[in-house]
Amino acid sequence: MILGERDPEVKAGVQGVDMSGQTVLVTGSTNGLGRQAAMAIGRLGADVVVHGRDRTAGESAVRELADLGSDAQFVSADYASVEDVREMADDVRESVDEIDVLCNNAGGLFDDNETTELGLGKHFHINHLSPYLLTTELLDTLAPEARIVTTSSIGHRVSSLNLDALIEPGPFSEWAAYCRSKLANIHFSNELARRLAAAGSDVTSNSFHPGIIPGSEFSRALPGPIQQFGDLLGEVPLTDSPEDGAATMTYLAASDSVDGVTGEYFARCRQRRPAPDARDETAQRDLWKRSADLLDIQEPLAEYA
Ligand SMILES: NC(=O)c1ccc[n+]([C@@H]2O[C@H](COP(=O)([O-])OP(=O)(O)OC[C@H]3O[C@@H](n4cnc5c(N)ncnc54)[C@H](OP(=O)(O)O)[C@@H]3O)[C@@H](O)[C@H]2O)c1
Repeated sequence: MILGERDPEVKAGVQGVDMSGQTVLVTGSTNGLGRQAAMAIGRLGADVVVHGRDRTAGESAVRELADLGSDAQFVSADYASVEDVREMADDVRESVDEIDVLCNNAGGLFDDNETTELGLGKHFHINHLSPYLLTTELLDTLAPEARIVTTSSIGHRVSSLNLDALIEPGPFSEWAAYCRSKLANIHFSNELARRLAAAGSDVTSNSFHPGIIPGSEFSRALPGPIQQFGDLLGEVPLTDSPEDGAATMTYLAASDSVDGVTGEYFARCRQRRPAPDARDETAQRDLWKRSADLLDIQEPLAEYA
């Protein structure tokens, strides 16, 4: 297979890694950078579970992966629905023996922050609460040294910490609600890492910023001035593309250099320091507990808080 220098696995320097025998679930892989990462991971030999709402796009991704030799399948769930996410977890448990890598990537910047069935802002529910639910539902299905990789955003840096603000649907702008949900992604990823380590588990959990990708669905929803800046960036060579955006996810899924690394934040395939608010362990613990309350479930890994 001839790879180009922009292919995510080449950019991530993992094109020589053999992932055959591994099962990787990439949420939000019907489109965008999730789809690009799913293809890269499929080219590395893994069996890929594709997720999204769009069945046509999901089945097309599965066909493309099958042509690469991946034993791929599609699972559908709307992340605005608790029931859908639970059913998705059931479907995954029934169809795979173990998950080696879980990429929590589904989500985005939406042009409204409507209230979901739980009375929560859409950004908080789709971008944070549903990956929290899916991950905790699948904890028992993870391989002993599985990796959990969560797509956050540089947007977390312009967000401040206020648990009520993370949860209430308004009066925040969509952009502000999005950035708070991406701060929640880092809190979730770090709290999960700490609890797993305390439980003596070798499963790792890391988060990352994929880059700002001109022309992506995400960038089309950005506020006007930021969008224009993004469009300008798109005209400059070497700025991020969906393939570039998939590189760090592919790196965290496949690279030997992150073996055993947990509770860290990455960008451009390198470990970075997230914003100070994203390093607040009390806030991470509070968010973890509050998320369980909102879902009306027992706090996962409560004994390792
Ligand atoms: N693009 C950027 O510049 C950028 C920058 C920073 C962070 N990110 C993050 O990167 C991730 C992927 O973004 P992208 O740019 O690749 O977006 P995208 O092209 O819009 O793809 C989003 C993916 O998420 C799925 N999704 C969206 N809403 C969903 C819902 N309610 N239920 C289930 N699945 C849903 C979509 O699947 P269906 O349409 O099939 O449901 C699709 O596969 C997001 O978490 C985003 O916050 C993106």
